Amino acid sequence: MKNFLITGGSGFIGTNFIRHVLATRPDWRVVNLDALTYAGNPANLEDIKQSWKERYRFVHGDIGDAELVGRLFSEENFNGVVHFAAESHVDRSILGPEAFVETNVVGTFRLLEVSLKARRAGTVPDGFRFLHVSTDEVYGSLGAEGSFTEQTPYDPSSPYSASKAAADHIVRAYHRTYGLPTLITNCSNNYGPYQFPEKLIPLIILNIMEEKPLPVYGDGKNVRDWLYVIDHCEAIVKVFEEGNAGETYNVGGEAERQNIEIVQLLCDLMDERLRRTGKKSSRKLIHFVSDRPGHDRRYAIDAGKIKSQLGWSPRYHFEEALATTVDWYLSHMNWVESVRSGEYRKWIEANYLDR
Ligand code: NAD
Ligand code: DAU
Repeated sequence: MKNFLITGGSGFIGTNFIRHVLATRPDWRVVNLDALTYAGNPANLEDIKQSWKERYRFVHGDIGDAELVGRLFSEENFNGVVHFAAESHVDRSILGPEAFVETNVVGTFRLLEVSLKARRAGTVPDGFRFLHVSTDEVYGSLGAEGSFTEQTPYDPSSPYSASKAAADHIVRAYHRTYGLPTLITNCSNNYGPYQFPEKLIPLIILNIMEEKPLPVYGDGKNVRDWLYVIDHCEAIVKVFEEGNAGETYNVGGEAERQNIEIVQLLCDLMDERLRRTGKKSSRKLIHFVSDRPGHDRRYAIDAGKIKSQLGWSPRYHFEEALATTVDWYLSHMNWVESVRSGEYRKWIEANYLDR
């Protein structure tokens, strides 16, 4: 059995990743270290805790707690780290950037320090690797043409993307300076089950269900490149197992869509399921609101490197996987209720109050 430290495993992508590797990699055992912020939900993996007792351990804690992380390294003899833990929502970073610097920058630095110490002390097995899960937002905004390659200069716009960019630089520095075998993935927008309903797709699905206004920032023509979360998980495993240490791999879905197209598509998918036709169409709920400050206009990923070097490409078709995602939310209303705490309601009020 190989032992992996997964940080942020109770969030959206981490949950899908842990489920994916336990199902597809019989020799992986995972230790999920998660601080359970508003975005982390222990219920996401409650069934896993029961059914995979020998291959799954949950530890409630902060990646910035070097003593705790150091203790885990000595107890567990990790073969590697897959680092998801982060503050991940751009709008929250605009209203309160400090937590983003703390977790995304300082927290990542502390994890690297503990990993390096353990490697130097010889307490990790040969072949130890540290994979940092990052974002395409570090590259900034594109015009109408072109796409981000691994050579695109960093040009982040929000406190969130700036904190991820800073973390990427530190991760790379630990490879170049100290020889720590690090890898970085820079991925586009994910969608799928367990995504916290502050992000565009789940927020719109739930607002349609409750016949609430559908807030579209600016003119709705900002473009994102969407990737189904399982495709992202498969890319991370590929890079972890076969990528070259010290390198970066861009990951994207080849599914560029304007935000307004996504919202209209979700209206149509939901209307089919809720039997809302004609004048009752949910499209009448679309509501253009004031723009996000520093809103990047367009993201697009050139995933040529991971495709040609590692043989990864996305398997899921956008419209089909979006429909699957809609059905997941409709059949998991208990999960939705469990994550919409009082804190969630306060956030929605603060973010949309003046829009
Ligand atoms: P998320 O917000 O859903 O989950 C983040 C998880 O990290 C939560 O479980 C939270 O409790 C945990 N966490 C936060 N601070 C912590 C700390 N100090 N110590 C330990 N745990 C902590 O995020 P997500 O959407 O699943 O994103 C995961 C990672 O993937 C992030 O690093 C993000 O930057 C990156 N990413 C996300 C996307 C996307 O579209 N969601 C795309 C590309 C990259
Ligand atoms: O590109 C990868 C990034 O994708 C990840 O690094 C981030 O963690 C993740 O949150 C996501 O960032 P975005 O800002 O692109 O995602 P979000 O779902 O917040 O917004 C998607 C687009 O929709 C963006 O252009 C803003 C717009 N939007 C968002 C919300 C929440 C709206 O128009 N209305 C909304 O209410």
